[in-house]
Amino acid sequence: MSNMVLPPIQIVPTSAASDAPGFGAEVRGIDLRSLSEVAFASIEQAWIDHQVLLFRDQRLTDHDLIMFARRFGDLDQAPIQENGQRFVAGIPEIYVVSNVVENGVAIGSLGAGEAVWHTDMSYLEAPPKASMLHALEVPAAGGDTSFCDMYAAFDSLPETLRRRAIGLRVKHDGTYNSGGYLRQGVIPSDDPRDAPGRLHPLVCTHPESGRRMLYLGRRRMAWIGGMDVAASEALLDEIWAHATQAAFTWTHRWRVGDLVLWDNRCTMHRRDPFDAAARRIMHRTQISGSAPPAG
Ligand code: OGA
Ligand code: MN
Repeated sequence: MSNMVLPPIQIVPTSAASDAPGFGAEVRGIDLRSLSEVAFASIEQAWIDHQVLLFRDQRLTDHDLIMFARRFGDLDQAPIQENGQRFVAGIPEIYVVSNVVENGVAIGSLGAGEAVWHTDMSYLEAPPKASMLHALEVPAAGGDTSFCDMYAAFDSLPETLRRRAIGLRVKHDGTYNSGGYLRQGVIPSDDPRDAPGRLHPLVCTHPESGRRMLYLGRRRMAWIGGMDVAASEALLDEIWAHATQAAFTWTHRWRVGDLVLWDNRCTMHRRDPFDAAARRIMHRTQISGSAPPAG
């Protein structure tokens, strides 16, 4: 046995979001397939502290991806893909995000268009606490993913808006996914009050950091519970315009082998469109939330 000393893990903040210091960090010096308990504990803490973590140069099989994700907790089953399949190659925890078409059938979801700002699966009573995407194939241009810091969005709300927001609940729509595609088995309605979905507090407290954040989910078909639809639309527009300012966001340009892990409670994300003739394949896992978001 040698007394080999492993190089320490480095946590390098992105410093990308001008009004959200500490939002996003790159973790260097690790292989996600062989993490010690100590290394995992520092990653988990960094994830709470920085909300979004980037790991470069990982080459994970689906099994490796699931083994890493399980260290954070139980995994949710992935939502049904747009192609109607419940899961991929017998692995129900993996969600494939891809525009690639094989034998006339899309192998994944979200196509090549824009994916609008959202939080994953927040139409559920207890949405996943985290999601991670692993890049297997990426286009030469486009398809960047941006993240938004919902702590910063809350902390910087003008006082009058903050006072109005606390105590309200917002409906997280389950009709459409972030690519604008209808979810399997849903009959769309024009009225956000009738649409399937879940009401969650608009201002939530993060169960681990104790910090407060805006919890918006997605804009389309959102509704502030109990409010007249026109008034709800106006208030949501105001809050959304505030929350998605560039000063709270970090945009990630993908390389093959990247893994990005986000705290799904205190961030939102969106994706730029890309050339539909190019190939992009990402595999995602989502870690179960233990409780509904609380105010
Ligand atoms: C997701 C998602 C965007 C992307 O997998 O939840 O929103 O960049 N993906 O592929
Ligand atoms: Mn998503």
